[in-house]
Amino acid sequence: MSAYLFTTILMILTFFSPISTTAKYRHSTPCSEDFNASLPKSFTNCNKLNTLGAQFGWRIHSNESVIDICVGAMIETDEGWLAWGVNPQAESQMAGTRAIIGFKKPDRKPSWNTYNVTSETKLGCRLMPSKIKDIDFRNVTFEYLNQTKYYRICATVGLSSEYNVSRLNHVWQVGFKSIGMEVMEPLKHKNPLPNMDSTETINLRVGTSKSNAGPHRHRMRMAHGVLNMIGWGTLLPLGVIIARYFNKYPLPYKHWIRLHITCQITGYTVGTIGWGIGLWLGYASKHFNFPIHGLIAHFIFAFTTLQMLALRLKPHSNDDYRIYWSIYHHFLGYSLLALIVVNIFRGIGIFSPNQTWRWAYIGVLCGLGFITLVFEIFTWIKFLKDRKEKNPGENDEGQQKKNTQM
Ligand code: HEM
Ligand code: HEM
Ligand SMILES: *[C@@H]1O[C@H](CO)[C@@H](O)[C@H](O)[C@H]1NC(C)=O
Ligand SMILES: *[C@@H]1O[C@H](CO)[C@@H](O)[C@H](O)[C@H]1NC(C)=O
Ligand SMILES: *[C@@H]1O[C@H](CO)[C@@H](O)[C@H](O)[C@H]1NC(C)=O
Ligand SMILES: *[C@@H]1O[C@H](CO)[C@@H](O)[C@H](O)[C@H]1NC(C)=O
Ligand SMILES: *[C@@H]1O[C@H](CO)[C@@H](O)[C@H](O)[C@H]1NC(C)=O
Ligand SMILES: *[C@@H]1O[C@H](CO)[C@@H](O)[C@H](O)[C@H]1NC(C)=O
Repeated sequence: MSAYLFTTILMILTFFSPISTTAKYRHSTPCSEDFNASLPKSFTNCNKLNTLGAQFGWRIHSNESVIDICVGAMIETDEGWLAWGVNPQAESQMAGTRAIIGFKKPDRKPSWNTYNVTSETKLGCRLMPSKIKDIDFRNVTFEYLNQTKYYRICATVGLSSEYNVSRLNHVWQVGFKSIGMEVMEPLKHKNPLPNMDSTETINLRVGTSKSNAGPHRHRMRMAHGVLNMIGWGTLLPLGVIIARYFNKYPLPYKHWIRLHITCQITGYTVGTIGWGIGLWLGYASKHFNFPIHGLIAHFIFAFTTLQMLALRLKPHSNDDYRIYWSIYHHFLGYSLLALIVVNIFRGIGIFSPNQTWRWAYIGVLCGLGFITLVFEIFTWIKFLKDRKEKNPGENDEGQQKKNTQM
């Protein structure tokens, strides 16, 4: 009982711990030398942006509502696009952004246009060029820089009084596909975190910026991933291996049930903390979410809870229902393991296109698979040996015995 209490307390603590959702202004990393060198001489500042490998240089005119900007990033696909824009709303986000979008084309010159990105765009309405009233985009260029392999948008931007250069919400994005010949329509960008975190509020006077995806959020996301990989993804499967091979056969171990339960309770506790952090992360990301990852997560939490309760509520071993209970417990257990592995890979896909996490978890799975394989071979060797010793010449009974172990 104390373990459940412990879990509950930890869950509540995780949920209500004073994790601040308000970000602070921070200094950013300066641009790469190559990118900096490609900027017009008049530019005074240049920062690396947080995501998508983008870089951003600027200067403020003596009329402080006018700024010069250049933003560059790589576009990997042949028909990809690069967007940069500003948002007059209180928060920096996609909906409401007035953007310049530049299009890479397979065998023609790159082109660009201005777009009013709205909440309808986010819902899936087509994004078509429009004149922007509250912003005066002048001297726009969109070109490929051979030295840095960057595509770059440069413009002189006249901001209306809705905007403030001390706290300008700006948004950038890279998409992989667009359609059209003269009038270009960008198609939806991908949605893992790097594409979701590509906004910030910047103070152009001093070069500091604040974003939702600061170092604190990054740490929480790492903790979420690691705890889930250890709890659901390693300890629970280990508990299942213990239950399968340390039971009666091939390695009868008197305290196997205690080992199994310890493993499952620890895995469940650690996993639940990870899940709790996931809930918080989902709640803190106001403008986007990951419904499938979240749904599978809740399913996993709900049904592992049921499995854990099962450990207390299971019928007595001499009860008639025990066999059905056993089948159900095993079936649900294996289904959950499959779901957990699926969700961990989905989580890794959301987290980063970087393959390190994926390989780390593939490593864990290979380790577990190897242990299982060794035990499985050992089971068969022992089974064949036992059969030879007990009843030489007969094999049906032995086969049945093996089957009941499954
Ligand atoms: C055809 C065009 C576009 C479509 C259909 C589209 C669709 C979406 C959708 C559905 C989301 C939410 C994803 C989720 O909740 O999982 C999103 C997020 C986002 N999009 Fe777009 N988008 C488009 C163009 C753009 C452009 C041009 C920009 C940049 C100017 C941009 C920047 C962002 C950003 C920064 C987010 C993160 C969440 C937010 O700030 O609201 N998108 N997009
Ligand atoms: C079976 C294990 C896992 C469970 C139960 C779980 C649970 C959750 C939940 C409930 C959410 C909130 C979903 C939403 O409403 O948007 C979430 C988000 C997320 N999860 Fe997981 N997760 C698991 C594994 C992972 C792994 C291994 C990673 C890899 C790093 C990961 C990365 C993420 C990320 C990046 C988010 C979005 C964070 C944000 O919005 O800032 N998850 N997870
Ligand atoms: C960028 O270039 C300018 C000159 O154009 C120079 O003054 C500045 O130090 C450079 N910054 C970096 C980070 O290289
Ligand atoms: C852009 O969209 C906003 C709604 O987000 C609307 O209020 C505004 O009038 C639109 N501007 C133009 C130029 O279409
Ligand atoms: C636009 O560029 C031209 C030529 O490069 C320059 O003469 C002009 O002053 C620029 N306009 C603005 C508003 O920066
Ligand atoms: C770009 O650079 C490559 C080598 O890096 C060179 O072969 C090519 O001619 C350059 N293109 C232009 C337009 O300068
Ligand atoms: C400063 O620039 C803004 C935006 O382009 C313009 O509306 C305003 O008239 C300019 N102010 C002066 C004093 O030139
Ligand atoms: C712009 O924002 C700064 C800091 O928030 C504020 O001090 C300043 O008064 C604002 N300027 C205008 C013109 O609103």
